[in-house]
Amino acid sequence: MAMKISRNASVLSPSLTLALTAKAKAMAAEGIDVVSFGAGEPDFDTPDFIKQVAIEDLNKGLTKYTAERGGPDLMKAICETLKRDYNLEYKPDQVIMSVGGKHSLYNIFFCLVDVGDEVIIPSPFWLTYPEQVKAAGGVPVIVNCPPAAGFKITPEQLRGAITPRTVAFVLNSPSNPTGAVYSKEELLALGRVLLDFPKVVLISDDLYQKLVYAPAQFHSLPAMMPELLDRTVIVNGLSKAYSMTGWRLGWAAGPKHFMDACANLQGHSTSNVTTFTQRAAAVALRSDHSFLIEWTAKFDARRRMLIDALNSIKGISVDPPPMGAFYVFPDVSACYGGTLMGRKVSDSLSFSAGLLESSNVAVVPGVAFGEDRCVRLSYATSEKNIEKGVARIREFLS
Ligand SMILES: Cc1ncc(COP(=O)(O)O)c(C=O)c1O
Repeated sequence: MAMKISRNASVLSPSLTLALTAKAKAMAAEGIDVVSFGAGEPDFDTPDFIKQVAIEDLNKGLTKYTAERGGPDLMKAICETLKRDYNLEYKPDQVIMSVGGKHSLYNIFFCLVDVGDEVIIPSPFWLTYPEQVKAAGGVPVIVNCPPAAGFKITPEQLRGAITPRTVAFVLNSPSNPTGAVYSKEELLALGRVLLDFPKVVLISDDLYQKLVYAPAQFHSLPAMMPELLDRTVIVNGLSKAYSMTGWRLGWAAGPKHFMDACANLQGHSTSNVTTFTQRAAAVALRSDHSFLIEWTAKFDARRRMLIDALNSIKGISVDPPPMGAFYVFPDVSACYGGTLMGRKVSDSLSFSAGLLESSNVAVVPGVAFGEDRCVRLSYATSEKNIEKGVARIREFLS
């Protein structure tokens, strides 16, 4: 008899993004020239001034446990960040550093969701949200936000999705996978709905806060509507803005009693994040962020290049254009029902598999993010790769 697997584990779907990335990597390892648009991380190195701090601390012997949330100076640095970037006052006992924003969200869902509780997730969504909600025993309530609506949830949709079982609403702006950025007015309209439902917690996932392209701007709903603060958790981290994905550093801020519960859970699971990364994280958060000027200019140039190139291919449409993060989420459904390079294409999965196998280009099927008409391309790759990859996509579709 096969060994048992718990309910918590068996409700999880395997990560389609990881499966495809693994296949693309295996092909590259065989010597095949694969162009990958699969990356969920910046292609820049972590800035040297951040790395040096971790090297120094490792050499100094900072290799022992700290407080489960992280050391006091790091907690202070997160509070300073909340003041600088959000104009919000938080105390060190209201924040926690975790093993990535993904882990912060895991703590939040496990401390918030009871069996049968509902969490509203606008679709397209980052694929981890529904899985974590399910693992915690909750029910993800997926609200479909089509391209024509800018991939954004409307106040009417939010109101219509709230039931007596709703415990949270997940807001992710800029969005992975669509790059959609909510305007001030759009956020305030959603906030006004939340004011009518005091039990619904706002989870604001701001991982891509610093990667926004003009004229779009990042706005934080709880910063604009402080009435929501006593039931808001802000999630952010160092992965995307500092190119520190592998360091695994994410943070969350919220009401003290809730963050205490998260700290308790973390204290009995992973404990503190790696000790010799903590001062480096504080230095990164307190830096002048001048490196971001070059990075965002590069991302913006590639974004424009990729949007224009994809829009010039018959059968592909990038509408609305992404305004944040580093993803383009084009609609390729005009190709469904046809045969491309001898392969039947009927959905985002067969499109992506066909493109990888026949043209050596890796993209992520939109079905992983709840939108089967689209595929996700990351432009965290060189302009040369973008040119080469788009030429192959053009050939695949012709
Ligand atoms: C929307 C969103 N939130 C959170 C995360 C978590 O990132 P990390 O765990 O590296 O901080 C990601 C990573 O891809 C993301 O795209």
